[in-house]
Amino acid sequence: MVNTIKGDSIIHNDVDYSGKIVTIERFILEEQRAHPTATGTLTSILYDIALAAKIIASKTTKAGLVEILGSTGRKNVQGERVQKLDEFADSVIYRLNDHTGRLAVMASEEHPDILPIPERYPVGKYVLLYDPLDGSSNIDYNVSIGTIFAIYRRKTQDGPGTLEDCLQKGDDLVAAGYIIYGSSTMFVYSTGVGVHGFTLDRSVGEFFLSHPDIRIPAKAKYYSVNQGYEHYWSEGVRRYTEWLQGKNGSGKKLSLRYIGSLVADFHRNLLAGGVFYYPADRKDPKLPHGKLRLAYEAAPLAFLAEHAGGAASDGRQRILDIQPTQLHQRTPLFIGNSDLVAKAEEFIREYDQAE
Ligand code: AHG
Ligand code: MN
Ligand code: MN
Repeated sequence: MVNTIKGDSIIHNDVDYSGKIVTIERFILEEQRAHPTATGTLTSILYDIALAAKIIASKTTKAGLVEILGSTGRKNVQGERVQKLDEFADSVIYRLNDHTGRLAVMASEEHPDILPIPERYPVGKYVLLYDPLDGSSNIDYNVSIGTIFAIYRRKTQDGPGTLEDCLQKGDDLVAAGYIIYGSSTMFVYSTGVGVHGFTLDRSVGEFFLSHPDIRIPAKAKYYSVNQGYEHYWSEGVRRYTEWLQGKNGSGKKLSLRYIGSLVADFHRNLLAGGVFYYPADRKDPKLPHGKLRLAYEAAPLAFLAEHAGGAASDGRQRILDIQPTQLHQRTPLFIGNSDLVAKAEEFIREYDQAE
Protein backbone atom coordinates (compact mmCIF):
# COMPACT_ATOMS: atom_id res chain seq x y z
CA MET A 1 0.00 0.00 0.00
CA VAL A 2 1.46 3.30 -0.98
CA ASN A 3 0.33 6.66 0.35
CA THR A 4 0.59 9.34 -2.29
CA ILE A 5 -0.44 12.95 -2.17
CA LYS A 6 -0.55 14.28 -5.71
CA GLY A 7 -1.36 17.99 -5.66
CA ASP A 8 -4.33 18.21 -3.36
CA SER A 9 -5.51 14.67 -3.91
CA ILE A 10 -4.93 12.34 -1.00
CA ILE A 11 -4.70 8.65 -1.94
CA HIS A 12 -4.26 6.20 0.92
CA ASN A 13 -4.48 2.46 0.33
CA ASP A 14 -5.81 3.24 -3.17
CA VAL A 15 -8.74 5.23 -1.70
CA ASP A 16 -8.93 8.89 -2.79
CA TYR A 17 -9.73 10.95 0.31
CA SER A 18 -9.23 14.38 -1.26
CA GLY A 19 -12.10 16.73 -0.43
CA LYS A 20 -13.99 13.99 1.42
CA ILE A 21 -15.32 14.14 4.94
CA VAL A 22 -13.82 11.04 6.58
CA THR A 23 -14.40 9.99 10.17
CA ILE A 24 -11.75 8.01 12.05
CA GLU A 25 -14.10 5.03 12.12
CA ARG A 26 -14.41 4.98 8.32
CA PHE A 27 -10.68 5.52 7.82
CA ILE A 28 -9.73 2.69 10.19
CA LEU A 29 -12.29 0.39 8.55
CA GLU A 30 -10.88 1.17 5.10
CA GLU A 31 -7.38 0.56 6.45
CA GLN A 32 -8.57 -2.81 7.72
CA ARG A 33 -9.78 -3.71 4.21
CA ALA A 34 -6.19 -3.28 3.02
CA HIS A 35 -5.19 -6.15 5.37
CA PRO A 36 -7.01 -9.21 3.94
CA THR A 37 -6.35 -11.35 7.00
CA ALA A 38 -7.67 -8.66 9.37
CA THR A 39 -10.46 -9.85 11.65
CA GLY A 40 -11.54 -6.38 12.70
CA THR A 41 -10.33 -6.81 16.29
CA LEU A 42 -7.54 -4.24 16.02
CA THR A 43 -10.01 -1.90 14.31
CA SER A 44 -12.36 -2.24 17.28
CA ILE A 45 -9.57 -1.57 19.78
CA LEU A 46 -8.70 1.66 17.93
CA TYR A 47 -12.41 2.63 17.97
CA ASP A 48 -12.50 2.05 21.73
CA ILE A 49 -9.40 4.21 22.27
CA ALA A 50 -10.96 6.96 20.15
CA LEU A 51 -14.07 6.74 22.36
CA ALA A 52 -11.90 6.92 25.51
CA ALA A 53 -10.27 10.01 24.00
CA LYS A 54 -13.66 11.72 23.55
CA ILE A 55 -14.60 10.97 27.15
CA ILE A 56 -11.26 12.21 28.52
CA ALA A 57 -11.41 15.27 26.25
CA SER A 58 -14.82 16.12 27.67
CA LYS A 59 -13.18 16.43 31.09
CA THR A 60 -9.97 18.21 30.05
CA THR A 61 -11.96 21.06 28.51
CA LYS A 62 -13.84 21.59 31.77
CA ALA A 63 -10.96 20.89 34.15
CA GLY A 64 -11.30 24.30 35.70
CA LEU A 65 -15.04 23.92 36.27
CA VAL A 66 -15.61 20.40 37.51
CA GLU A 67 -13.94 18.92 40.54
CA ILE A 68 -11.23 17.19 38.48
CA LEU A 69 -8.30 19.51 39.00
CA GLY A 70 -5.46 18.96 41.33
CA SER A 71 -3.90 16.00 42.97
CA THR A 72 -5.41 12.91 44.52
CA GLY A 73 -2.85 13.26 47.24
CA ARG A 74 -1.47 9.84 46.32
CA LYS A 75 1.77 8.86 44.55
CA ASN A 76 2.09 6.26 41.77
CA VAL A 77 4.70 3.58 41.25
CA GLN A 78 6.89 6.22 39.69
CA GLY A 79 6.78 8.17 42.92
CA GLU A 80 4.91 10.92 41.09
CA ARG A 81 1.87 12.76 42.46
CA VAL A 82 -1.29 11.27 40.87
CA GLN A 83 -3.54 13.98 39.48
CA LYS A 84 -7.29 13.38 39.49
CA LEU A 85 -7.33 13.52 35.69
CA ASP A 86 -4.56 10.86 35.58
CA GLU A 87 -6.79 8.58 37.58
CA PHE A 88 -9.91 9.41 35.58
CA ALA A 89 -8.17 8.80 32.23
CA ASP A 90 -6.61 5.58 33.51
CA SER A 91 -9.96 4.26 34.68
CA VAL A 92 -11.80 5.20 31.47
CA ILE A 93 -9.27 3.42 29.25
CA TYR A 94 -9.25 0.32 31.45
CA ARG A 95 -13.03 0.07 31.81
CA LEU A 96 -13.58 0.55 28.06
CA ASN A 97 -11.26 -2.33 27.27
CA ASP A 98 -11.46 -4.85 30.12
CA HIS A 99 -14.62 -6.68 28.98
CA THR A 100 -14.42 -6.64 25.15
CA GLY A 101 -12.60 -9.96 24.74
CA ARG A 102 -10.06 -8.23 22.47
CA LEU A 103 -7.19 -7.96 24.95
CA ALA A 104 -5.18 -10.55 26.84
CA VAL A 105 -3.68 -8.04 29.26
CA MET A 106 -3.10 -4.31 29.80
CA ALA A 107 -0.46 -2.20 31.55
CA SER A 108 -0.59 1.43 32.58
CA GLU A 109 1.86 4.01 33.85
CA GLU A 110 -0.42 4.40 36.87
CA HIS A 111 -0.19 0.77 38.08
CA PRO A 112 2.94 -1.05 39.30
CA ASP A 113 1.98 -4.42 37.80
CA ILE A 114 0.22 -5.68 34.66
CA LEU A 115 -3.58 -5.25 34.56
CA PRO A 116 -5.15 -8.68 34.00
CA ILE A 117 -8.50 -9.07 32.26
CA PRO A 118 -11.08 -9.88 35.00
CA GLU A 119 -11.83 -13.62 35.07
CA ARG A 120 -15.50 -13.07 34.24
CA TYR A 121 -14.51 -11.67 30.83
CA PRO A 122 -12.98 -13.46 27.80
CA VAL A 123 -9.35 -12.74 26.86
CA GLY A 124 -8.27 -11.78 23.36
CA LYS A 125 -5.09 -11.73 21.31
CA TYR A 126 -3.88 -8.14 21.78
CA VAL A 127 -1.98 -6.26 24.48
CA LEU A 128 -2.59 -2.59 25.34
CA LEU A 129 0.04 -0.49 27.15
CA TYR A 130 -0.77 3.12 27.90
CA ASP A 131 0.16 6.37 29.55
CA PRO A 132 -3.34 7.58 30.38
CA LEU A 133 -2.37 11.17 30.83
CA ASP A 134 1.01 12.48 29.74
CA GLY A 135 2.25 15.84 30.97
CA SER A 136 -0.05 15.72 33.96
CA SER A 137 2.04 18.20 35.93
CA ASN A 138 0.67 20.75 33.45
CA ILE A 139 -3.05 20.00 33.97
CA ASP A 140 -3.68 22.74 36.55
CA TYR A 141 -2.03 25.34 34.30
CA ASN A 142 -4.11 24.64 31.19
CA VAL A 143 -1.15 23.44 29.15
CA SER A 144 -1.63 20.73 26.49
CA ILE A 145 -1.57 17.16 27.80
CA GLY A 146 -2.02 13.80 26.10
CA THR A 147 -2.61 10.05 26.16
CA ILE A 148 -0.14 7.59 24.60
CA PHE A 149 -0.94 3.98 23.64
CA ALA A 150 0.92 0.95 22.29
CA ILE A 151 -0.73 -2.21 20.90
CA TYR A 152 1.01 -5.59 20.48
CA ARG A 153 -0.16 -9.09 19.61
CA ARG A 154 0.16 -11.39 22.62
CA LYS A 155 3.19 -13.68 22.56
CA THR A 156 1.83 -16.36 24.90
CA GLN A 157 -0.60 -18.79 23.30
CA ASP A 158 -3.65 -18.71 25.53
CA GLY A 159 -4.97 -18.05 29.00
CA PRO A 160 -4.52 -14.76 30.86
CA GLY A 161 -1.91 -12.45 29.35
CA THR A 162 1.40 -12.23 31.19
CA LEU A 163 4.24 -9.81 31.90
CA GLU A 164 6.08 -11.41 28.96
CA ASP A 165 3.25 -10.24 26.69
CA CYS A 166 3.87 -6.68 27.93
CA LEU A 167 7.67 -6.76 27.60
CA GLN A 168 7.96 -6.68 23.82
CA LYS A 169 10.36 -4.75 21.55
CA GLY A 170 8.86 -1.68 19.90
CA ASP A 171 9.67 -3.32 16.56
CA ASP A 172 6.81 -5.74 17.27
CA LEU A 173 4.20 -3.02 17.68
CA VAL A 174 1.07 -3.54 15.54
CA ALA A 175 -0.25 -0.04 16.24
CA ALA A 176 0.60 2.99 18.35
CA GLY A 177 -0.64 6.52 18.76
CA TYR A 178 -1.49 9.42 20.97
CA ILE A 179 -4.26 11.89 21.67
CA ILE A 180 -3.30 15.51 22.35
CA TYR A 181 -5.77 17.56 24.38
CA GLY A 182 -4.75 21.03 23.30
CA SER A 183 -6.32 23.99 21.50
CA SER A 184 -8.02 21.20 19.59
CA THR A 185 -8.17 17.49 20.43
CA MET A 186 -6.28 15.36 17.92
CA PHE A 187 -5.91 11.59 17.56
CA VAL A 188 -2.71 10.54 15.78
CA TYR A 189 -1.96 6.87 15.09
CA SER A 190 -0.23 4.39 12.80
CA THR A 191 -0.69 0.69 12.09
CA GLY A 192 2.57 0.74 10.16
CA VAL A 193 1.17 2.23 6.94
CA GLY A 194 1.66 5.97 7.34
CA VAL A 195 0.84 8.20 10.31
CA HIS A 196 -2.61 9.81 10.28
CA GLY A 197 -4.14 12.64 12.29
CA PHE A 198 -7.79 13.27 13.13
CA THR A 199 -9.30 16.33 14.77
CA LEU A 200 -12.27 16.12 17.14
CA ASP A 201 -15.35 18.13 16.19
CA ARG A 202 -16.92 18.39 19.62
CA SER A 203 -20.25 19.57 18.22
CA VAL A 204 -20.83 16.20 16.56
CA GLY A 205 -18.50 14.11 18.72
CA GLU A 206 -16.52 12.81 15.74
CA PHE A 207 -12.81 12.66 14.90
CA PHE A 208 -12.40 13.77 11.26
CA LEU A 209 -9.36 13.05 9.08
CA SER A 210 -7.36 16.29 9.11
CA HIS A 211 -3.71 15.22 8.69
CA PRO A 212 -3.46 12.22 6.31
CA ASP A 213 -0.07 10.60 5.93
CA ILE A 214 1.96 12.91 8.18
CA ARG A 215 5.64 13.16 7.19
CA ILE A 216 8.13 14.97 9.42
CA PRO A 217 9.41 17.98 7.39
CA ALA A 218 13.00 17.56 6.18
CA LYS A 219 13.98 21.01 7.53
CA ALA A 220 13.77 21.10 11.33
CA LYS A 221 12.54 24.24 13.10
CA TYR A 222 12.84 23.31 16.79
CA TYR A 223 14.84 21.54 19.40
CA SER A 224 13.10 20.57 22.63
CA VAL A 225 14.91 19.83 25.88
CA ASN A 226 14.67 20.96 29.48
CA GLN A 227 17.69 23.26 29.60
CA GLY A 228 17.10 23.69 33.30
CA TYR A 229 18.95 20.39 33.77
CA GLU A 230 21.90 21.34 31.57
CA HIS A 231 24.39 21.04 34.43
CA TYR A 232 23.38 17.38 34.85
CA TRP A 233 24.05 16.44 31.21
CA SER A 234 26.95 14.46 29.78
CA GLU A 235 29.65 16.19 27.74
CA GLY A 236 28.22 14.70 24.53
CA VAL A 237 24.71 16.04 25.18
CA ARG A 238 26.06 19.45 26.12
CA ARG A 239 28.07 19.69 22.90
CA TYR A 240 25.11 18.37 20.88
CA THR A 241 22.91 21.12 22.30
CA GLU A 242 25.49 23.77 21.41
CA TRP A 243 25.59 22.34 17.88
CA LEU A 244 21.80 22.61 17.61
CA GLN A 245 22.05 26.22 18.82
CA GLY A 246 24.46 27.06 16.00
CA LYS A 247 27.48 27.58 18.27
CA ASN A 248 30.97 26.75 17.00
CA GLY A 249 29.83 27.47 13.43
CA SER A 250 27.49 24.48 13.15
CA GLY A 251 25.23 26.57 10.96
CA LYS A 252 22.07 25.25 12.68
CA LYS A 253 19.47 27.86 13.61
CA LEU A 254 16.87 26.02 15.68
CA SER A 255 14.46 27.65 18.13
CA LEU A 256 13.98 26.12 21.55
CA ARG A 257 10.43 25.03 22.35
CA TYR A 258 9.82 22.93 25.48
CA ILE A 259 6.34 22.44 26.89
CA GLY A 260 7.06 19.69 29.41
CA SER A 261 4.34 17.47 27.94
CA LEU A 262 6.03 14.82 25.81
CA VAL A 263 2.98 14.42 23.57
CA ALA A 264 2.77 18.17 22.89
CA ASP A 265 6.51 18.53 22.29
CA PHE A 266 6.51 15.47 20.01
CA HIS A 267 3.40 16.59 18.10
CA ARG A 268 4.86 20.02 17.34
CA ASN A 269 8.14 18.53 16.10
CA LEU A 270 6.28 15.91 14.03
CA LEU A 271 4.37 18.62 12.15
CA ALA A 272 7.05 21.36 12.06
CA GLY A 273 10.27 19.34 12.07
CA GLY A 274 12.56 19.13 15.07
CA VAL A 275 14.17 16.98 17.70
CA PHE A 276 12.99 16.29 21.27
CA TYR A 277 15.34 14.79 23.77
CA TYR A 278 15.20 13.77 27.40
CA PRO A 279 18.74 12.53 27.98
CA ALA A 280 20.16 10.43 30.77
CA ASP A 281 21.11 12.97 33.40
CA ARG A 282 22.55 12.97 36.87
CA LYS A 283 19.86 14.94 38.65
CA ASP A 284 18.45 11.83 40.33
CA PRO A 285 20.82 8.93 41.01
CA LYS A 286 17.75 6.65 41.13
CA LEU A 287 17.00 7.59 37.51
CA PRO A 288 20.31 7.13 35.65
CA HIS A 289 18.48 6.65 32.33
CA GLY A 290 16.40 9.83 32.44
CA LYS A 291 12.71 10.21 33.22
CA LEU A 292 10.80 8.79 30.26
CA ARG A 293 9.43 5.24 30.19
CA LEU A 294 10.16 2.87 27.31
CA ALA A 295 6.95 0.85 27.12
CA TYR A 296 4.27 3.54 26.93
CA GLU A 297 6.16 6.72 26.05
CA ALA A 298 9.35 6.19 24.03
CA ALA A 299 8.46 3.04 22.05
CA PRO A 300 5.01 4.08 20.73
CA LEU A 301 6.28 7.55 19.76
CA ALA A 302 9.37 5.98 18.16
CA PHE A 303 7.02 3.79 16.05
CA LEU A 304 5.20 6.94 14.87
CA ALA A 305 8.42 8.88 14.29
CA GLU A 306 9.83 6.14 12.05
CA HIS A 307 6.56 5.74 10.08
CA ALA A 308 6.60 9.51 9.54
CA GLY A 309 10.15 9.38 8.13
CA GLY A 310 11.96 10.29 11.36
CA ALA A 311 13.98 8.35 13.94
CA ALA A 312 14.21 7.62 17.67
CA SER A 313 17.22 6.53 19.70
CA ASP A 314 18.35 6.23 23.29
CA GLY A 315 21.53 7.96 22.20
CA ARG A 316 23.28 4.73 21.28
CA GLN A 317 20.66 2.43 19.71
CA ARG A 318 17.28 2.53 17.98
CA ILE A 319 14.46 2.69 20.53
CA LEU A 320 12.47 0.02 18.67
CA ASP A 321 15.37 -2.44 19.01
CA ILE A 322 15.40 -2.28 22.83
CA GLN A 323 14.16 -5.45 24.53
CA PRO A 324 12.39 -4.29 27.74
CA THR A 325 13.17 -6.20 30.94
CA GLN A 326 10.95 -4.24 33.31
CA LEU A 327 7.47 -2.80 32.80
CA HIS A 328 8.30 0.78 33.86
CA GLN A 329 11.92 0.85 32.75
CA ARG A 330 13.20 4.24 31.69
CA THR A 331 15.23 5.22 28.70
CA PRO A 332 16.97 8.31 27.40
CA LEU A 333 15.08 9.50 24.31
CA PHE A 334 16.20 11.44 21.23
CA ILE A 335 13.32 11.60 18.70
CA GLY A 336 12.47 13.56 15.55
CA ASN A 337 14.32 14.33 12.32
CA SER A 338 16.60 11.41 11.43
CA ASP A 339 19.64 13.61 10.76
CA LEU A 340 19.30 15.33 14.15
CA VAL A 341 18.89 12.01 15.98
CA ALA A 342 21.95 10.62 14.16
CA LYS A 343 23.92 13.71 15.17
CA ALA A 344 23.04 13.14 18.83
CA GLU A 345 24.39 9.58 18.57
CA GLU A 346 27.56 10.97 16.94
CA PHE A 347 28.26 13.41 19.80
CA ILE A 348 27.50 10.79 22.44
CA ARG A 349 29.75 8.24 20.69
CA GLU A 350 32.58 10.76 20.50
CA TYR A 351 32.39 12.39 23.95
CA ASP A 352 30.65 10.00 26.35
CA GLN A 353 32.22 6.78 27.45
CA ALA A 354 30.06 3.73 26.81
CA GLU A 355 28.16 2.65 29.94
P1 AHG B 1 3.74 12.01 32.79
O1 AHG B 1 2.89 13.21 33.08
O2 AHG B 1 3.01 10.93 32.06
O3 AHG B 1 4.46 11.52 34.03
O4 AHG B 1 4.88 12.46 31.75
C1 AHG B 1 5.58 13.61 32.03
C2 AHG B 1 6.85 13.59 31.26
C3 AHG B 1 6.68 14.02 29.81
O5 AHG B 1 5.38 14.33 29.46
C4 AHG B 1 7.53 15.26 29.71
O6 AHG B 1 8.28 15.27 28.54
C5 AHG B 1 8.44 15.17 30.92
O7 AHG B 1 7.69 14.49 31.91
C6 AHG B 1 8.80 16.52 31.43
O8 AHG B 1 9.75 16.26 32.46
P2 AHG B 1 10.55 17.49 33.13
O9 AHG B 1 9.52 18.29 33.86
O10 AHG B 1 11.55 16.81 34.04
O11 AHG B 1 11.20 18.25 32.01
MN1 MN C 1 4.04 10.52 30.29
MN1 MN D 1 1.25 9.95 32.64
